[in-house]
Amino acid sequence: MGAKLRLLCLASALLAYWIYIPMSEDCEQPWKMMLILAPFRAAAQLAAIAEQLGLMHYMEAMKAIMALQHVAATSDENVTVTDTEFSGVPVRLFVPRKEPEGLRRAVIYFHGGGWCLGDAGFKSSDYLTRQTSNRLNAVVVSVNYRLAPKHHFPAQFEDVYSVTKFFLQSKVLSQYKVDPNRVCVAGDSAGGNLAAAVAQQLPEDPEVKTKLKLQALLYPALQTLDLNSPSYEENKDDPLLSKALMVRFWSEYFTPDASLREAMASNRHVPAHASHLLQLVNWSSLLPAEMRQGHPYPTPSFGSPRLAEQYPGFLEVRAAPLLASAAQLRRLPLTYLLTCGHDVLRDDGLMYAARLRAAGVPLAHQHFQEAFHGAMIFISGSGELAVGRRLLNSYIEWLDENL
Ligand SMILES: *[C@@H]1O[C@H](CO)[C@@H](O)[C@H](O)[C@H]1NC(C)=O
Ligand SMILES: *[C@@H]1O[C@H](CO)[C@@H](O)[C@H](O)[C@H]1NC(C)=O
Repeated sequence: MGAKLRLLCLASALLAYWIYIPMSEDCEQPWKMMLILAPFRAAAQLAAIAEQLGLMHYMEAMKAIMALQHVAATSDENVTVTDTEFSGVPVRLFVPRKEPEGLRRAVIYFHGGGWCLGDAGFKSSDYLTRQTSNRLNAVVVSVNYRLAPKHHFPAQFEDVYSVTKFFLQSKVLSQYKVDPNRVCVAGDSAGGNLAAAVAQQLPEDPEVKTKLKLQALLYPALQTLDLNSPSYEENKDDPLLSKALMVRFWSEYFTPDASLREAMASNRHVPAHASHLLQLVNWSSLLPAEMRQGHPYPTPSFGSPRLAEQYPGFLEVRAAPLLASAAQLRRLPLTYLLTCGHDVLRDDGLMYAARLRAAGVPLAHQHFQEAFHGAMIFISGSGELAVGRRLLNSYIEWLDENL
């Protein structure tokens, strides 16, 4: 065997060794999943190296690599797509070409990416919102809100809130032939967090006359207080969204200061004076018994009050919708909630489901035990996974019946 061939064999073996990662037993397409995850893992490793060398902030490096997924706003035979601005915030707007018989429905959509990453123009977001527009014959407004690490809470929230408020004005709704009784907010992951926060704040706003018909939350992040719930523990090494990455996303939402991140990583960021808030995220009382099994509820450990003084956002309801009072929850519209078994954020969703039910909010909760956080990114082209397609269809079919 020639030296080149030997080198090639060695390189292939190393590559296969690197690509291989253990998958959960219920993973339907383990090899395809590993291949799809490989570029994500490579990007994360490159970004970590760039940061260690002092070249770039981790999230800026991830952003630069992920920008490859950007696609231009391109209309097709069914939907007119434009990049424009609502209330000074960039949005990608999807308007069906087909003239409506009456008025149309509308979805205001917030993409995921941990408040740091993602874009309405990424291939997977564009595909999801385009499908929604086409299959529901609905206007879809996909918001490019400001991102960390350049912008911190509440910038992300303020952007999605002002777009929603702008769009809900009767003159804007009628311009797009939208029925004011059939508008919703929706989002995945960090976008689900923003959608939940917007839906909570709108009824408190005397300037907003139009009510949302519903909210759709896809594997949302809903609380910052307890980052040690059973789902955080069980999925802490998830290749797509590890506990360490989720902690990083949460802390970057408020500040680049690594001391908040470190405190969050050891779940010692909540100051003792905020201990009363813990009952709102108490998984020992809010989770179904089978999800708590093998997880004794620990005595909470508190952190220095300095962090909460400097970065009060992490104790705010606009960042952590699970902190809403029962009175606030009662004003919420019909809710669609999608949760996944393999997800550090599973318990955020399950606890919100329990609190919404207790508040009497009509709730459609679909739990996909075999699915993983972010599965709905994998819905188009060669990167399509059956599980992603199934989640997408469940979400769109539910919207079609209820919006
Ligand atoms: C347009 O809509 C039709 C009917 O829903 C669908 O079959 C077709 O694939 C759509 N075209 C695009 C480009 O999405
Ligand atoms: C959490 O709930 C459990 C069981 O209902 C209770 O014993 C515990 O005191 C609660 N802890 C907090 C911090 O709310």
